[in-house]
Amino acid sequence: MVRSFPHKHLLDIEGLLKEEIETILDLAARYAQTNRSIQKKTSTLDGKIIANMFFEDSTRTRTSFEIAAKRLGAEVINFGATSSSINKGETLSDTMRVIDSMQVDGFVIRHKENGFPRRASKFVSSPILNAGDGSHEHPTQALLDALTMIRHKGSLKGLKVALCGDIEHSRVARSNAHLLKKFDADVHFFAPPMFVPKDSNALGIELHASLEEAIEGADVIMMLRIQNERLGEDVEPISNKAYHKAYGLNHEKLKKAKDDVIVMHPAPMNRGVEITSALADDPAHSVVFEQMEMGVATRMACLDLLLCQD
Ligand code: CP
Repeated sequence: MVRSFPHKHLLDIEGLLKEEIETILDLAARYAQTNRSIQKKTSTLDGKIIANMFFEDSTRTRTSFEIAAKRLGAEVINFGATSSSINKGETLSDTMRVIDSMQVDGFVIRHKENGFPRRASKFVSSPILNAGDGSHEHPTQALLDALTMIRHKGSLKGLKVALCGDIEHSRVARSNAHLLKKFDADVHFFAPPMFVPKDSNALGIELHASLEEAIEGADVIMMLRIQNERLGEDVEPISNKAYHKAYGLNHEKLKKAKDDVIVMHPAPMNRGVEITSALADDPAHSVVFEQMEMGVATRMACLDLLLCQD
């Protein structure tokens, strides 16, 4: 297996080659097996310290990066805005320089500003892993999504994947669009009118007029929540009930897709809004919690490849 990875940082999916993504996914698949064995811990990152710096809320990404680091033998320090000297007026870039000067071995960063991890990569010396930056990218989410799809469907090539919901504010949609196109998947999008992405031409995505049209014959459906934390004042409020009726996924609408369609969601899910609770919990279709399992394996692979370079 080719193990080399020629990047110092993991900042986005757009800048990766298909072969580089395959290297990550192959290693992640092996870690997925390790994670189901009795002896899960390895010594790959023994003696290393990783700074988990989350300046936006997170459950899955922060926890799974921490579990991934610990499974590889590293230690983790968790860092947020509320308990740091940022509260005393220190700039975030100075705070990062402080942590960097203490010789940590890697940074995992989530920040609301598009491009912050790339900017940070100019002023720290250790590898940076982007854990989600604004509406720009969430590379490890797209990687774990790809791993989950491959486990169920064998390959991404020609797979009909429908991404539906608030595309405009979704970094998950952007990272998935970049990844799936590199693998020649057949990618379709549906966004409610207020969430149609302004960069759909740049993304080269096919937008449908309705959810039903987008999911017709789909192998994979990925539902996205409304990113309330990023909405501008121009977006008219809509009740959960009205949103669900017009744009949500339920078992009835699912009949449009293939019989063996898998239903995905990066979570957090808003049950009864973009997806019914019954569908989220339906073992015949939903792989939502398997995505979270694959998140740990994927982040182990990314940390291994970035932090074990000569
Ligand atoms: N999918 C995802 O990024 O979830 P969190 O916001 O909980 O990390």
